[in-house]
Order: sequence, then C-alpha cells, then structure tokens
Amino acid sequence: MLPNVLQPRAADHVPVLAEEVRACLAVRPGQTVVDATFGAGGHAALLSAELRGSGKLIAIDRDATAHAYFERFERQAGVNTRLLRGDFGVVLPQLAENGVRADAILLDLGVSSMQLDRPERGFSYATDAPLDMRMDTTQDLTAREVVNTWSERDLVTIFRRYGEERYSKQIGRAIVRRRKEQPFERTGELVDAIRGAIPAPARFGDGHPAKRVFQALRIAVNDELRALEEALPAALEMLRPGGRLAVIAFHSLEDRIVKQFLRERERGCTCPPDFPVCVCGHEPELRAVQRRPIRPTEAEIAVNPRAASARLRAAVKEGVES
Ligand SMILES: C[S@@+](CC[C@H](N)C(=O)[O-])C[C@H]1O[C@@H](n2cnc3c(N)ncnc32)[C@H](O)[C@@H]1O
Repeated sequence: MLPNVLQPRAADHVPVLAEEVRACLAVRPGQTVVDATFGAGGHAALLSAELRGSGKLIAIDRDATAHAYFERFERQAGVNTRLLRGDFGVVLPQLAENGVRADAILLDLGVSSMQLDRPERGFSYATDAPLDMRMDTTQDLTAREVVNTWSERDLVTIFRRYGEERYSKQIGRAIVRRRKEQPFERTGELVDAIRGAIPAPARFGDGHPAKRVFQALRIAVNDELRALEEALPAALEMLRPGGRLAVIAFHSLEDRIVKQFLRERERGCTCPPDFPVCVCGHEPELRAVQRRPIRPTEAEIAVNPRAASARLRAAVKEGVES
C-alpha cells in the first residue's frame, strides 16, 4: 500500500491544451512518443490512445511521486511503456546519445497540480509548509538553503530575473535582515517577510504578493531554465524526420527560450546578415506548426484556471529518413 501522499487522486492534474497538443503532435499507431514531463500522466494517456495499441511511450519525470501515476497509466495504456526518473535536461541528451529515436516529444513545463496542491512540498505560497520546492526530493538544494544562505545580491538577481519582481531589492534586503535574527524554515515566514517589504498598495494588485518570488525560487531550486536549454537540442536530435516537438510554457522566460530555439532552427543559415550569399550551407532543421503560440480558450480557462498562462509551440523536424 502506498503512503497517502503518493496515492494518485481522482482530481489530480487536468492536462492543459489537451486537444491542441493532440493535434500538433499528430501521433499515429506504431510510433514512439516521449512525454518528458509525465506528471500525473494526463497527456500521456491522451497520446498513448492515439497509438491504438501499437507503439511505445517513454515517460520521464524527475519527481518520484510520478511513479504511482505511472503504475496506474501502465495498467491502462495498452502500449509498450516505461518511466525514466530524472531531469529531462540530462535524460533526453542520454537517450539521444544512445540512438533512441522518437516521432513525437512533449514538454509540459513547470510544476503539476499534484505538486502545488501537496502543502508538504513547499511550492505554494497559499499554505504554510517547510521551505522546500524540490521537484526531485533527493537533490541537495532546497528553497530553505537558497533563502538562508545565498547573498543578498544573488537573491535580488533571481527575484528580478526569474520572477520579474519589481520590489526585488526591498525583498532581498528584508530577507537578509530577518535571517540574521532567525533563519527561515517555512513558506509562511517568507510570505510575511515579502508582505512586509513591499509598499502597502502593491500588496493588493497583480495577484498574491509572494507569487513572483515563489516562482523565482522554484526556478532557481530546480534549475529549470538550464534543463530546458539542454533538453531542446537533444529532443531535436532524437526526432525522426517528420517527427514533432511540442512545448507548453507557463511564463515568458520559458517561452522565450522555446521561441528562440525554434526560430534559430527554422532559419537554418547562420551567416551574418550582411553576407550577400549564404556560405554556411546550413539547412532549416524545423518547420513551425503555427507561427504564433497556441493559447487556451476562455472555456478551458474557466474550467482550469491554471491553464491561463499556457502557451504551446510546436514544430516538425525537416528532412527525409536516411
Ligand atoms: C505541468 S506537469 C506535467 C503534467 C502532465 N503533462 C500531465 O498531464 O499530467 C510538469 C511535470 O514535469 C516534471 N518536470 C518539470 N521539470 C522537469 C525536468 N527538468 N525533468 C523532468 N521532469 C520535470 C514535474 O515534476 C511535473 O511532474
């Protein structure tokens, strides 16, 4: 029997942009699909149904709780499947290097509802919990360590860069002042420090006052942008010609990385713009499925408010099978 925190719940993650992901990836029977962010297996269930009993689904997640969801998925999937536990920024390059090839790869970035809704994980500013925020609980770095040991300058930098927080300086200063008296242990203490550091009118506008700092800490603790930057070229390498990549981003930092990567690989030629003719000979490697990112409909947001900031980008790998 699994401990309660590992039990899948009926109301766990609702897959975001489900129909749009299905259309963009256009999975067919017999293909190999990689779901690099398995989570509760919502998208994996959808994509494995497209395989209609023939094909393979490789699931990846760095969070051990995905295992319980995977067991349930495996019983129902009806296709060959396995779960690889680890960071997709490491696992995808390993698979690519080992010659594993895929027809469809999905990255649905960020945290899942099951991580956010489990207070003991410390991802949420809404409930008081230990300052943790690790997706992979075997990793050493926690939010507690970042908040209590990183320099004021580094804290201000991550709040600004990863949280786009206007009051980064004031919050950084308040954290350092408070931790000299007593180290931070819990999310609630951090929320109080943030509230106290920002001007009163700013506490009421633009969502919860701790939202941006919590996002910044989560990105830093899990080194999320590095993982994405390492995953994208590996995913492209793994794709067969005609294979498809789909990425769902939930904030502009992630989306910018995805957009730039796709643009670069769609362009091909890397010659300086003032060269009269191309001398590099690079061919485009990808073709966008749609130029603009795909956003959720109002109807989806009404049912699943967490979908509101999602942006889906997808591309097809160019070339012919050798
Ligand atoms: C938004 S959820 C995915 C939900 C999933 N698509 C579903 O329908 O249930 C993101 C998942 O990706 C995992 N994840 C995030 N970054 C990761 C990384 N760098 N490597 C592996 N897994 C990661 C998280 O642990 C989380 O379970």
